[in-house]
Parts: sequence; C-alpha cells; structure tokens
Amino acid sequence: MSSNHSSLIVITGASRGIGRAIAISIANACTKEPTALPMPIHVVLIARDEQLLLENVRLVREKCGESTIITTTCHAVDLSDLNSLSTRLNDIFEPLKQHDYDHCWLFNNAGSVEPLGPTTLLANGSIDELRRSIDLNVTASMWLSSMFAISFSSTARSVRIVNISSLCAIEPFATMAVYCAGKSARDMFHAVLAKEMAGKDDQKDNSTTTDVENEQKARSAFKVLNYAPGACDTTMTDVLADCTTLDAGLHDYFTSSKKECKLIDPADSAGKLIELLLKDEYVSGSHVDYWDV
Ligand SMILES: NC(=O)c1ccc[n+]([C@@H]2O[C@H](COP(=O)([O-])OP(=O)(O)OC[C@H]3O[C@@H](n4cnc5c(N)ncnc54)[C@H](OP(=O)(O)O)[C@@H]3O)[C@@H](O)[C@H]2O)c1
Repeated sequence: MSSNHSSLIVITGASRGIGRAIAISIANACTKEPTALPMPIHVVLIARDEQLLLENVRLVREKCGESTIITTTCHAVDLSDLNSLSTRLNDIFEPLKQHDYDHCWLFNNAGSVEPLGPTTLLANGSIDELRRSIDLNVTASMWLSSMFAISFSSTARSVRIVNISSLCAIEPFATMAVYCAGKSARDMFHAVLAKEMAGKDDQKDNSTTTDVENEQKARSAFKVLNYAPGACDTTMTDVLADCTTLDAGLHDYFTSSKKECKLIDPADSAGKLIELLLKDEYVSGSHVDYWDV
C-alpha cells in the first residue's frame, strides 16, 4: 500500500515517561487545525512493556477521537538484546518502507540511568550491568538511528532524527559516569550523522538546481537534533532519588525536587520539543536544552 503526503513517527521508550509524553504531544499537535504534519500519520511505539504500550496506543487513539488521521501500532522489543536487534528492527521497518512516507521522524529516546555510584568502585560491581547499559544507551541507539537513516532517507522528502540527550552529555556529574559517557557518545554519534548527511544533500542534484536551492535542500531534507529534556518527573528520576550511592548533592536535589514537585512535567518538555521540530530553525547536529527553548 502506498500513501502520499503522509508521515511516519517512530518513538522508542514509548511505554512511559518522556517517550509516552512525546506520543501524546504528537497526537495533540496533529489533531489541531492546521495540522502540524502531512496526514495521515502513522505512529509506532517501541519499548519492552507491551501492556503499557497498548495503553498508550489507546490514549493516542482517544486523543484523535473518531478520526483516522493518526494510526498507532506498538512493538514490544528489548533494544538491549543486540543479538536480535537488527532482525527486530528490520521486521518493523520493512513493511513501513512500502508506504513511501513523505516525512519520517525518529525519537531515539529509550534509555536507562544505571549503574550509578563512585567511578572508582565501578569495577567492584557487575561488568554485565555495565555492558547492558552500554548495549542499550550507546550501541542500540547508534544502530537504530543508522537503520532509520538507511531505511527512509532515500525515499522520504524529510527525515528528522531526535536523540534524546541530557545535560549529562556535556557536563560531568559525580557518580553518574557511565550514564554521562553514554549520553556524550550518543550526542557525538548524532552530530557526525548530521554532518555526513548534510554533505550528501549538498552533492545531490547539483547539476539541475541552483546553489541556493541545494543549500535549502541540505538544510531541510535530513536533520538531526540532540535534545536534552531537562530534569523530568519520570521513573528515571525516581531511580536517582532512591539511589543511596548517588552523589550527596545530586541525591538531595532529586529527593527534594520530587517532594516539592519541582521537576519538569514530561508533557511540558515533550511539547517544547515538538514545537522546536515544527519550527525547524535549529542547526542540524546541535545540542539543544529544554531551558534554551
Ligand atoms: N527524566 C529525566 O530527568 C531525563 C533527563 C535527561 C534525559 N533523559 C532521557 O530521556 C529518555 C527517557 O527517559 P525517562 O526519564 O522517560 O525514563 P523512564 O521513565 O525510565 O523511561 C525509559 C523508557 O525507556 C524504555 N526502555 C528501557 N530499557 C529498555 C530496553 N532495554 N528496551 C526497550 N526500551 C527500554 C522504557 O520502557 P520499558 O521498561 O517498557 O522497556 C521506558 O519507556 C532517556 O534517554 C533518558 O536518558 C531523562
């Protein structure tokens, strides 16, 4: 089946927290007039917890009422299982490629914050826990963005890849070395991807189009954003607030912010992100923080 002027949105970590909020923000943005993205829109939710995913599929449908402008499907995938990652993603992307979507957006959001604790004590813990963290936060994230780019960049009119980053990608936080290192690696990977794809766009069709047209195309055809959502009230910050090996200052910050309801509502951060994407004024490959928007 082929559907022109349509959009595909893939969100990982969509069972709860920021990923769930992104799915709902998209439903909100796309049910307004004029619609934010070319219709119809197909939203694909990915995480491990199928029950929560199905509940979010129901929520998005509820937001859209009887309208069929947004269809939503979900896939229960453990992205940290690198042995099956390629096959699982292929199974999801191959049927989607048949649709010739005009606009393809990926929210590369799934992540975990552990292991936590003093870096000097890391080797006292489990190397499997370290490997699992890198598998999910770094390897799977890079693989996913690359597969998305391969699958959709040659056919879609516009591709957007959003790496959900963190202040931890650009600033060291004591006792969070593994998380900081993973976020930093993800940012650089996506910055390089942006640079390479801008170069490719520059080379496209330059025999028949003017330099200005080519420049516009390079700016708009394929863009990547590293978006730091701010400290949000999610399960991830529950883990930080409950962690007894976290740096004392950070622990105080997360416990008191939770208690005083001072953390950012994920819906607020997701809403800002969607606005940022729709305005399309950010520089591809840049790191943009919730507090900068
Ligand atoms: N919360 C914050 O303050 C904050 C700040 C900066 C950046 N971030 C980033 O924002 C992103 C989302 O975090 P969050 O706060 O929303 O965390 P969260 O509430 O813990 O949600 C994490 C999401 O990732 C999914 N996930 C975890 N492990 C997975 C796996 N192995 N395979 C597939 N999916 C997996 C979880 O779903 P399942 O458990 O169902 O698999 C869940 O949907 C992360 O990349 C995080 O680093 C968060």
